[in-house]
Amino acid sequence: MTMPKYVAIAIDGPAGAGKTTQAKLLAKALGYTYVDTGALYRTLALHKVLAGQSDACLNYDSFPVVEELLDTAQITFGYNGQTDQRVYLNGRDVTNEIRTPEISAMASRLSAIPAVRAHLLDMQRNEALSGNVVMEGRDIGTVVLPDAQHKFYLTADPLIRAYRRGKEMREAEQTFDPVDLVKGIMERDYNDSHRETAPLKIAKGACVVDCSELTIKETTRTLLAIIALNNQPEA
Ligand code: DC
Repeated sequence: MTMPKYVAIAIDGPAGAGKTTQAKLLAKALGYTYVDTGALYRTLALHKVLAGQSDACLNYDSFPVVEELLDTAQITFGYNGQTDQRVYLNGRDVTNEIRTPEISAMASRLSAIPAVRAHLLDMQRNEALSGNVVMEGRDIGTVVLPDAQHKFYLTADPLIRAYRRGKEMREAEQTFDPVDLVKGIMERDYNDSHRETAPLKIAKGACVVDCSELTIKETTRTLLAIIALNNQPEA
């Protein structure tokens, strides 16, 4: 039997469950590289916005439109240390620009297109070929890295997720409408889990962690404890 060269930890779950925070904390604690795959879908959405096409005039069903989008967006990752992943669109660092509610909604819709998912698959898999990773997304344990040694499905009550996201946005001095925030989270939950290709679902062998009533620290300790348990040799 060939042993995998590197360790992969897959974290999937709905928007706002704390995947990013937890993936970064695990990566830091274990010395692994943090990989945020949602950034790829967000960057494609930004590419569309920069081309002057808002969500309303984006024809998601048109094959040539999608092909053109994929052909003209060169997306690359860079790292400032193992937990500070940067994402570049045609050579420009867009890491911060992709974090807006408009981009979130567009990314969710773009991510339902099979050609988009196929285009981004190898790039995600390649990240796990060059070192130990903590990779977060929606289909990491199911599609991208089904053989990951540790798989988590991190979730929380939708209202708690909306509250946490709102707190983050307030801290970042971004304005938001609380009702739109809740609606946005619920819409994304629906889109992400009802699309035909690689929908968000609990991967085979994944451990479900509901962090609705856990603090950040408690959640990290839970995840680390599960990893340690998984690593214990069988008696
Ligand atoms: O994790 P995020 O909110 O940054 O992701 C943005 C969108 O990208 C999300 O609504 C669904 C999609 N996505 C996906 O379909 N598969 C992934 N592995 C990561 C994100």
